[in-house]
Amino acid sequence: MLKLTFADQTGRLTDEKLRAEAEKYAPLLAGMKEKMGLDPMSTGWMELEKWAGEDTLSRLESIAGEIRQKADAFVVIGVGGSNNAARSMVKALKRPGNPEIIWAGNTLSAPAMNRMLRSLEGKDFYIDCIAKNFETLEPGAAFRVLRRALREKYGADYPARVIATGTIGSPLEALCQKEGFTFLPFPTDIGGRYTALSNVGLLPAAVAGVDIRKVTGGARKMREAVYSLPPGENPALLYAAARHLLYEAGYRVEMLASFEPAFGWFYKWWIQLFAESEGKEGKGLFPVASAYSEELHSVGQFVQEGSPILFETFLEVGETGEKLSLAPDGVSDGFDYLDGKDYGDLNAAAAEATRTAHSRRLPVLTLSVPRIDEETFGELFAFFQYACVLSSGMLGVNPFDQPGVEAYKRWMFKALGKREWDL
Ligand code: PA5
Repeated sequence: MLKLTFADQTGRLTDEKLRAEAEKYAPLLAGMKEKMGLDPMSTGWMELEKWAGEDTLSRLESIAGEIRQKADAFVVIGVGGSNNAARSMVKALKRPGNPEIIWAGNTLSAPAMNRMLRSLEGKDFYIDCIAKNFETLEPGAAFRVLRRALREKYGADYPARVIATGTIGSPLEALCQKEGFTFLPFPTDIGGRYTALSNVGLLPAAVAGVDIRKVTGGARKMREAVYSLPPGENPALLYAAARHLLYEAGYRVEMLASFEPAFGWFYKWWIQLFAESEGKEGKGLFPVASAYSEELHSVGQFVQEGSPILFETFLEVGETGEKLSLAPDGVSDGFDYLDGKDYGDLNAAAAEATRTAHSRRLPVLTLSVPRIDEETFGELFAFFQYACVLSSGMLGVNPFDQPGVEAYKRWMFKALGKREWDL
């Protein structure tokens, strides 16, 4: 189970202050459990059984099994909340021997789309268009291009290779019925960035060979912890309280960092979750991420000595389960101090050294997870979602809307001549 610790020589975060902040916001935790003050059309993710229950998991496993048999590649068409969770799991947990997962519907770049289409040449493939409202331009345009590619390859049989994940009653469902595509429900009562544990996040993961039952199992475990642990031991409340204390102390940026590159795409999910949930009404911590140790050689300089605007949150892994010896090869290379060590020793030493150095200058939180596996990803999705709701509550903003995202879209639709545009 995930654990929160911290190191801070600035004195802004102490055990005492954190405990007091968690106690102060204990009513927020109690209210969240009852969904008090939360939009009921956005809290479906709290009921895991509703959108990731036995029927859903079995259906997803069966569809994924068919795709694994008949395809070399599976194209996920989606943007933001419609692809970030799946991508984070696939990039970290994909098992060998399963179809390649290809991402589309997240760009408007012709070179990128052409590259993606070229990568499909000579491959059998399926597509899944994931779009809550089926109005977003990137997935809409990519769906059109990929339907054409499928039709050119498979002729009249192409609809059997098209899946679409949209809300019940949406134009996307109507289109599926008319064209004979497979339709999967996008939860009506969950906003994009909270849909990791539903058809949205779980089908691509299942196609990649990820055990989606273990993912949902991990999320269930975290939900139990968040619902049962008292404020002073509650990981989601403590993390939210620490962030809020630091926000009140003047910090404006939170940097999530890990020494495990497997989290490289998880960062994007985390950034979207907090940026869209909290960044409104002139408030919020700006979420950024850094892949260590690589970026210690770039942003590390700023973290240690630049403007004091950020604090760090490390995502630390207990046991990777992998070894790589650095046994000497007989060449005198000046790295004798590595003899008898393993890569794991180096990564652990680098992490500890970074924590020690950085915590002299800025508060450093550490979220420790035991392993990088399905259960951990389930725990992390649930943990951050609950923490984000609590943290948004502390700021006094609605964690489930994203009014700012709409502004540029209206101008873009106008530029493209969309009929219904309305400024
Ligand atoms: O979290 C959200 O609601 C958004 O980021 C959406 O996921 C994103 O805009 C994509 O929306 P849609 O699935 O409707 O195309």
